[in-house]
Amino acid sequence: MKMWSGRFRQPLDPEFEHWQRSFEFDRRLLKYELAASAAHARALKNAGVLLADELISILEGLQKIGEQTDPNSFAVKDNEAEDVHHYVETQLVSLIGEIGYKLHSGRSRNEQIATDLRLYVRAAIDQLRSELSELCTAFVGRAEQAGTAAMPAYTHLQHAEPVLVAHWLLAYVEMFLRDADRLAECRARTNICPLGSGAVAGATLPLDRTFMAQELEFASPTANSIDATSDRDFALEFVNALSVLALHLSRWAEEMILFASHEFGFMHLPEAYSTGSSAMPQKMNPDLLELVRGKTGRTIGCATALMVTIKGLPLAYNKDLQETQQPLFDAAETMMNMLPLVAGFMKAVELDFERMGEAAQSGFMNAWAAATYLVNRGVPSRLAHEQVGKAVKLCLEKNCDLNGLTLRELHELNPAFDERFYECLKLTSVLAMHDVIGGTAPDRVRRAIAETKKKIDSLREEVHAHA
Ligand code: ARG
Repeated sequence: MKMWSGRFRQPLDPEFEHWQRSFEFDRRLLKYELAASAAHARALKNAGVLLADELISILEGLQKIGEQTDPNSFAVKDNEAEDVHHYVETQLVSLIGEIGYKLHSGRSRNEQIATDLRLYVRAAIDQLRSELSELCTAFVGRAEQAGTAAMPAYTHLQHAEPVLVAHWLLAYVEMFLRDADRLAECRARTNICPLGSGAVAGATLPLDRTFMAQELEFASPTANSIDATSDRDFALEFVNALSVLALHLSRWAEEMILFASHEFGFMHLPEAYSTGSSAMPQKMNPDLLELVRGKTGRTIGCATALMVTIKGLPLAYNKDLQETQQPLFDAAETMMNMLPLVAGFMKAVELDFERMGEAAQSGFMNAWAAATYLVNRGVPSRLAHEQVGKAVKLCLEKNCDLNGLTLRELHELNPAFDERFYECLKLTSVLAMHDVIGGTAPDRVRRAIAETKKKIDSLREEVHAHA
């Protein structure tokens, strides 16, 4: 039986009827629909609308639906359900008889879908934060393994200064930890309960909303029924947070693709995460990385779709809101499937420290250190910059590095140069010189690794607390 056919004189156009359904995708919400329905049933009993034995058979029926339905495998196409709410009602009635219809007393699908989606987003956030903690652990593991290996850092994709490989890896961990924080903040705003908001004006029965919120482990009931039934901010925020995470992953993927190219040769692709070419026998392609980059576009597309769908919708519920579900699910599931693969790739990729180290020694990346040497001898920074710039020009003419200049040549630029200058040009000196919080001096990086591990531990503890 339909949930709403009483006032209709004509049946629906069959194609329209089919087209307006959402069961094909909202069946993902079954678990949450059942939990929310159980909370509602208990509130109905407390309000005197259900008898004790009616409550028991409804709860048993709901449990059975959960047990007998695998939301991923059952035949959706053959199912007559309009949406997941309708599915539960029809199943319940077929299991326990007409009493099943009592479950819908005093509630509306508008509050149900808002509740189910919040439960879905909350669970997705918990899973993603757990996956992020694993990803961060994989990056930190590689950072520890890299020890004091160096590589070039780039600005404008030009050689800038040498850094520790570990320092570069930790940069990504910082981004991922911020992503985990953003998700936690989104979780706090998601974790409020629309149940009892009715269709728009609030439930028509005296339901204990605080009780229902507690049953579902929400922090509190929502404050306004009009807002609660039409708000999708939590989905917007969530998918926007995923877009930022995807952007970070995309930057990482792009760097890795470059660094794995023949020209850079900083790393060798793990065969387990690469593919070949059907035409060129020698090829090994960075498909995982390219797909990570590609799925970023898809995720941003989901965020855009959500925003454009909601733009200009009058309050409160409108069926347009059904269209927010697929981009939400798509962005969440894309990310949930991707993060473990990125962690696996990161553990498997072979970094070529020798090649990175060679590159870290070339391209005048010690020039700023050379200018600092003069600054430490009282030379004004602008002049030191100019003089070392001239030294670089001379090197380019002579085809040598800064340490290939003689003291005599250096003295023509500034008499403050002495023997100790050559020491300060060495890679180890240049690295050690960046001895500030957040800098690449090996000692700082060692401490940063320890700090980062602590942050990952507390992320993991937070995730466990929600599990
Ligand atoms: N499938 C619907 C959705 O996702 C459920 C809410 C239907 N509400 C209604 N008033 N037609 O939005």
